[in-house]
Amino acid sequence: MDIIVRNLSKKYGEKKVFHNFSAIIKEGGVTSIMAPSGAGKTTFLRILAGLEKADEGSIEGMEGKNIGMVFQEDRLCENLNSVSNISFVCSNAITRQQILEELHKVGLAGSELQPVRELSGGMRRRTALVRALLSVYDILILDEPFKGLDESNKIEIMNYTLKKSMGKTVILVTHDENEVKFMGGEIIYMYPHIIK
Ligand SMILES: Nc1ncnc2c1ncn2[C@@H]1O[C@H](COP(=O)(O)OP(=O)(O)OP(=O)(O)O)[C@@H](O)[C@H]1O
Ligand SMILES: [Mg+2]
Repeated sequence: MDIIVRNLSKKYGEKKVFHNFSAIIKEGGVTSIMAPSGAGKTTFLRILAGLEKADEGSIEGMEGKNIGMVFQEDRLCENLNSVSNISFVCSNAITRQQILEELHKVGLAGSELQPVRELSGGMRRRTALVRALLSVYDILILDEPFKGLDESNKIEIMNYTLKKSMGKTVILVTHDENEVKFMGGEIIYMYPHIIK
C-alpha cells in the first residue's frame, strides 16, 4: 500500500514548520524529498516514523510496518566499533561474518574494529547506513544518508543502497539533485510555509 499523507501540519510553539502538507509515497520504490533547510523534512520523517506527532492531518499506510532509518545525525555509540554498533541493533539471525562482509562492501575493511569516534564523517555515515540496511524493514527512511561521501564513493554507496533495498519503499531526503537522479523514482518538493 502506498503511504498517503493528507493535510499534515506541524508547529513548534508558535512556529509553523509546515502546513497542509500532502503527498503520496509509492510502495516498493524510491521517493526523494527535497526542500530548503528548515522546511521540515526531518520533522516529517520523524512523524512518519512515529517519533513525533503531527498537530493536524493524517498518514495512511504506515500501520504495522517495520521501519529502517538513517537519522540525520549518525546516532552511533561512540566507544563501540562499527560491527558492534550494528550487531547491537540488528536481528540475531545476522552473523558477525555477514556484518563484516557488508562493511567490507561499503569500503570499511580495516576500520571495522576501531571505535566509531575515531572514524571520519563518511565512514560513520556508511556504518549508520549498513546498520539500517541490515535491520528488518518494509520502509527505509534515509535522512541525508550520503552526506560526507566523496563523489565516487557516493556512487558506489548509492548502488549498494539500491541493491540492498530493492523492492522496498525507500524515502530519501537530500539536497543533492544528482543523488535524486541516481536513485530514480519519484520526487516530492516540500515548500516551506510562509510565516507572516
Ligand atoms: N524539537 C524541536 N523543537 C523546536 N523546534 C524544532 C524542533 N525540531 C525542529 N524544529 C524546527 O522546525 C524547523 C524544521 O526543522 P527540520 O529539522 O525538520 O528541517 P529540515 O528541513 O530537516 O532542515 P535541514 O535541511 O537543515 O536538515 C526548524 O525551524 C527547526 O528549528
Ligand atoms: Mg533535516
